Amino acid sequence: EDEAFLAAFQERIDAEMKIEPNDPMPEGYRKTLVRQISQHAHSEVIGMQPEGNWITRAPTLRRKAALLAKVQDEGGHGLYLYSAAETLGVSREEMTDQLLSGAAKYSSIFNYPTLTWGDIGAIGWLVDGAAIMNQIPLCRCSFGPYARAMIRVCKEESFHQRQGYEIMMTLARGSDEQKAMAQDALDRYWWPSLMMFGPSEGSSVHSSQSMAWKIKRFTNDELRDKFINATVPQAEYLGLTVPDPDLKWNEERQSYDHGEIDWDEFWRVVKGDGPCNRERLRNRTRVHEEGAWVREAALAHAEKRRERAEA
Ligand code: 3HC
Repeated sequence: EDEAFLAAFQERIDAEMKIEPNDPMPEGYRKTLVRQISQHAHSEVIGMQPEGNWITRAPTLRRKAALLAKVQDEGGHGLYLYSAAETLGVSREEMTDQLLSGAAKYSSIFNYPTLTWGDIGAIGWLVDGAAIMNQIPLCRCSFGPYARAMIRVCKEESFHQRQGYEIMMTLARGSDEQKAMAQDALDRYWWPSLMMFGPSEGSSVHSSQSMAWKIKRFTNDELRDKFINATVPQAEYLGLTVPDPDLKWNEERQSYDHGEIDWDEFWRVVKGDGPCNRERLRNRTRVHEEGAWVREAALAHAEKRRERAEA
């Protein structure tokens, strides 16, 4: 595209105008949104697996009903986001192939196992808490369909975060074994939750362009700090210890300083070598194959209805 076109587009972005699917846009803007929105959708759908693992083992009917509702919400968020990505000209089949072939990413956090019921509390509290931190600014994303999808998603995420925190509260106030379960879940989910926000400044390849195009409103580190500052007091209220000996309030920064994140672990998990990567994709591939007949039947039915309508 020529300089004048890019400059005119940037003026619309700077004027906080929403870009809609049929508006003229730079190819790079379209591509980075297809990348981010489809990977966001993949994350929501894969995220159903670790949580779904405990639906049949929830300790009470109330907990089972809340978890069932949350997992159904995640699936809905995924479908919502796939539809937002489709407005940019990519098909559902293409995006699914990218996920199943390993070409597309999904959030690293969902490659960790849910070993205890406490993990379900930690996921709601920490993972959905981190997702909310990340998704609230996305409600102001310059691309209309994504911003509007986020407004609906954020409402449901707050329920997810509350039900997780309530589980942690119950465990932290329960027997010694229950409190130990909550602490163990925090120990195993704290650092992977920080990694959800992505690499630090130096190695975030997309941040500067995504911020110029107002897809991203804050850097990965700024959002990570917001999450830590909001979550540490909650851990203290629960009487749990954040597993970071270097965590320390920095009066000058008005923010917590924290220990080094293990970026080797992050990239290992992102590149497919986390604890559950193979299992997650194996499950997703299996259900895609088992569901092929439903897709074929729906297409055949749609074709028959079209022929009848045209007869
Ligand atoms: N897991 C996997 N890949 C990650 C990652 C993570 N936690 N963090 C970053 N990456 C990838 C990026 O996708 C990019 O790879 P790519 O070019 O192949 O896409 C690379 O690492 C470099 O990272 P950047 O910071 O340069 O990339 P972005 O500018 O896209 O920032 C992001 C990464 C912050 C995750 C951004 O894509 C984003 O905000 N995405 C939307 C939110 C999202 O996807 N959340 C995932 C969780 S969904 C969820 O939690 C559901 C809840 O209901 C439980």
